[in-house]
Amino acid sequence: MKALILCAGKGTRLRPLTFTIAKHLIPIANKPVISYSLEKIKSVGIEEVGIVVNPENIKDFKNFFGNGEKFGLKIEYILQQEPKGLAHAVMVSKDFLKDDDFLMYLGDNLILDDITSFVEEFKNDEDMKASILLSPVKDPSRFGVAVVKEGEIIEVVEKPKEPISNLAIIGLYLFRNTIFEGIANIKPSWRGELEITDAIGYLIKNNYKVKGHVVYGWWKDTGKPEDLIEANRKILDDNHFKVQIDGIVDTSSVIQGRVSIGENSEIINSTIRGPVVIGKNCIIKDSYIGPYTSIGNNAVIEDCEIENSILMDHVKLMNLPYPIDSSLIGKNVQIVNNEKKPKAMKFVIGDMGKVEIVR
Ligand code: DAU
Repeated sequence: MKALILCAGKGTRLRPLTFTIAKHLIPIANKPVISYSLEKIKSVGIEEVGIVVNPENIKDFKNFFGNGEKFGLKIEYILQQEPKGLAHAVMVSKDFLKDDDFLMYLGDNLILDDITSFVEEFKNDEDMKASILLSPVKDPSRFGVAVVKEGEIIEVVEKPKEPISNLAIIGLYLFRNTIFEGIANIKPSWRGELEITDAIGYLIKNNYKVKGHVVYGWWKDTGKPEDLIEANRKILDDNHFKVQIDGIVDTSSVIQGRVSIGENSEIINSTIRGPVVIGKNCIIKDSYIGPYTSIGNNAVIEDCEIENSILMDHVKLMNLPYPIDSSLIGKNVQIVNNEKKPKAMKFVIGDMGKVEIVR
């Protein structure tokens, strides 16, 4: 069995971050979103992985994951020139997939549940032509949804206006090569995309067995900043990261709870209250870093209070008069308060940046 991870979307809701980084590479607990999918894929014994990318982000993925060897996987990159839909992404992956069974993963989705039984059940029943991971949701109109009867899916609808079911498709699918027959028989939807949901609908209408596998654990479609901050909280809570202090902590600093500090980082006269992860080569001085904060490499933080936030590499924060909370701060961002006169707020913020001052 192979795996296919779909990462060719545009990530417009995460701009301006996604002007310079693919949304799937934004760090959660200092690891790219997509690395959690790769771990899941590995956990079920799959080694061959195809990542569907677009012309803008292919280089970033290649730089980070290379041929996959470092991660114990064989990774190939498949170029989808334009995001013409999930079924289109599968179509352009035909040379990689050949006639093999495959696990398809939407690259921006995070799932904590173990997926072993989902995969084993599929492997053990040749008649099952697809199996779809589902979860109950309050807002089904945002998702593809499925109606399930005695474990089998009898109807699927993409983003239904009228709720036919509260079981959402959450971004993990198992397929045999029959799915290509489904894809060959669909037309672009109202949003101009070739929908995988419609290809699954074709299988159902043509009496192929499609299983609905329902899970109840936490999962998230990380499309918006607040989703990433929630995911960061969840992963830090979930014992996912190694609690390890490789940096230097001086005697006037206090470390509480589960905290990880990378090599060459220095904590000076500060309190770090976990769960917190801090990368390599950071300087944290006269500051408070509170729960659910992830700080990338090479950050400099002086005289600040921060919690429940994601700070990417090379961030510099100095002397801020108010605590930073629930924030997502991109690479090389500097927020500095100095005591010079005249008093003013000075900004150099790229397109679609957002500053919110809550007083
Ligand atoms: O989040 C779950 C939902 O994901 C499902 O409930 C829906 O049935 C499914 O259609 C999908 O809907 P979205 O509208 O949220 O899909 P999105 O456009 O965000 O794409 C999901 C991932 O697939 C994302 O990582 C980008 C990638 N993608 C998307 C398109 C349209 C591609 O690789 N190629 C594409 O052409």
